[in-house]
Amino acid sequence: MAMTADGKIATANRVVHSLGSRRDLRHLYELRATADAVMCGARTVEISNTILSNGGESFRQQRLKTGLAEFPLRVIASGSGSINPDADIFKSTFSPIIVLTTKRASAKKLAELRKLGAEVKICGQTEINFPAAMRWLRTKWHVKRLLCEGGGELNAGLFFEGLVDETHLTICPKILGGRNAPTLAEGIGFQRLADAEDFQIQSIKLFQGELFTVFSR
Ligand SMILES: NC(=O)c1ccc[n+]([C@@H]2O[C@H](COP(=O)([O-])OP(=O)(O)OC[C@H]3O[C@@H](n4cnc5c(N)ncnc54)[C@H](OP(=O)(O)O)[C@@H]3O)[C@@H](O)[C@H]2O)c1
Repeated sequence: MAMTADGKIATANRVVHSLGSRRDLRHLYELRATADAVMCGARTVEISNTILSNGGESFRQQRLKTGLAEFPLRVIASGSGSINPDADIFKSTFSPIIVLTTKRASAKKLAELRKLGAEVKICGQTEINFPAAMRWLRTKWHVKRLLCEGGGELNAGLFFEGLVDETHLTICPKILGGRNAPTLAEGIGFQRLADAEDFQIQSIKLFQGELFTVFSR
């Protein structure tokens, strides 16, 4: 995730979604090249129009060398099953697309997603049961390492369940402000400090004005 100095990951109107430099984008591709699967929330898929590709030929080669598939498996979280069918991700077929959803999604929505080529997995009644979803991804799709690329709402679900082993956070020297601008972890949040997810700072690197940090458990 790329975050401003005031902790925002996008503008309040969600329109600005690219905060980091080219080096930061490369870092994202480097991380993708280590993952069996990449995952985004429904709003990020729609707004950023990401297709969750492998980042190009050199990363494709790197994946193959380390025994990964040419392209990562693509996972979208959408409890309501409402993802804009015109999103770019549905126009690319280089790897399977999996939509994690819940019983809230109507039969019509599920049928639409299947028609777009996605495999749909219902995990939970109203909220995605992420531990169950992760177990299913591991068993059915052999996902051992999953890279979550946000946004804040999806991140919160994973943090809340204690499912995040490592966080790569690029701090960009900008202040966006906006009380409604999304942050790294949205949701309802923990109410007590004692419940907060604890991480250790594993590394920090200042490179051309951006701070590349890694937090791990
Ligand atoms: N700076 C960065 O590095 C970075 C990275 C990624 C995204 N972003 C930005 O962040 C913004 C989007 O973030 P966001 O927090 O608004 O949205 P988001 O996390 O991308 O997507 C939220 C949606 O994902 C689904 N979802 C997430 N958690 C769920 C759960 N536990 N159970 C069921 N469904 C769940 C829901 O979809 P349904 O409503 O369909 O049920 C929810 O509305 C965009 O502006 C994007 O560009 C920035």
